[in-house]
Amino acid sequence: MAPAVKHFLQFKDLSRDELEHLFARSHVIKDRFKRYQPYHPLNDRTLAMIFEKSSTRTRLSFEAGMHQLGGAAIYLNTRDTQLGRGEPVEDAAEVISRMVDVVMIRTFEQEIIERFAAHSRVPVINGLTNEYHPCQILADIFTFIERRGPIQGKTVAWIGDSNNMCNTWLQAAEVLDFNVHVSTPPGYEVEPERAGLFGTDHYEAFADPMDACRGADLVTTDVWTSMGFEAENAERMKAFADWQVDSDMMRVAAGDALFMHCLPAHRGEEVEAAVIDGPQSVVWEEAENRLHIQKALLEYLLRGRVED
Ligand code: CP
Ligand code: NVA
Repeated sequence: MAPAVKHFLQFKDLSRDELEHLFARSHVIKDRFKRYQPYHPLNDRTLAMIFEKSSTRTRLSFEAGMHQLGGAAIYLNTRDTQLGRGEPVEDAAEVISRMVDVVMIRTFEQEIIERFAAHSRVPVINGLTNEYHPCQILADIFTFIERRGPIQGKTVAWIGDSNNMCNTWLQAAEVLDFNVHVSTPPGYEVEPERAGLFGTDHYEAFADPMDACRGADLVTTDVWTSMGFEAENAERMKAFADWQVDSDMMRVAAGDALFMHCLPAHRGEEVEAAVIDGPQSVVWEEAENRLHIQKALLEYLLRGRVED
């Protein structure tokens, strides 16, 4: 069995103290990068990125981030590797983790990444599974903090599907002590066990999305059909029709409420164009912050708590 290493497989793998360190570090790393100050703590280190689903942001941010930290990233598409021809995940983990220093995986069931991590000698990062998308929520919360300060005690309204993003917001609320108001169509409700929640103290379900948005500090949503669920698309289009984040929902939220979407977005489906392209939207900052927060995460997993 491989020795114990620190992985980031779901949001609650990091404590509040570790997360606060990451947010502070992201700020330093971002500022240093913007001022053209080289920072290469991962010189000679390699990240393997294993993708079983499509990506623009995750691939770019990890690849550019490793380069900026002085290391290198290797892109592996499952279809082109022996994993795609049936090599056991456990065997792949044993081999890959003897050749690189950190691994990022985007796959289907969470169980796959957990099996990989159990046989990996190096840290494994979840780059999205059916259940969770923890790197995205790190970036989202960092973006919120940059704009509005601490998220503790604030209210996030989640409108739409109880998917990987929703589950991760719910975990983050427990670790960082904020509230999530969730509104999903009937039949698509949160499954607390699948979301990996300790309790139900930090979230409340609302039948009407307007009620979920009322007074919220942040309104957020995501696609109605996530990758891997394409066969349900037609059915979902009908079920989610009243769950589009629109200007009326933003109007009942707090006056300074932000709008976030992890992207890619479908204007006219889960979000009205006037909202995602409007003044409360911070979606481009959210995307950029994937780069900065993941650099802090890579630094932390490989080098520990750097303070310089
Ligand atoms: N938000 C996000 O993870 O985007 P990609 O699918 O493009 O990586
Ligand atoms: N919930 C979406 C997020 C994409 C970044 C999906 O899993 O497809």
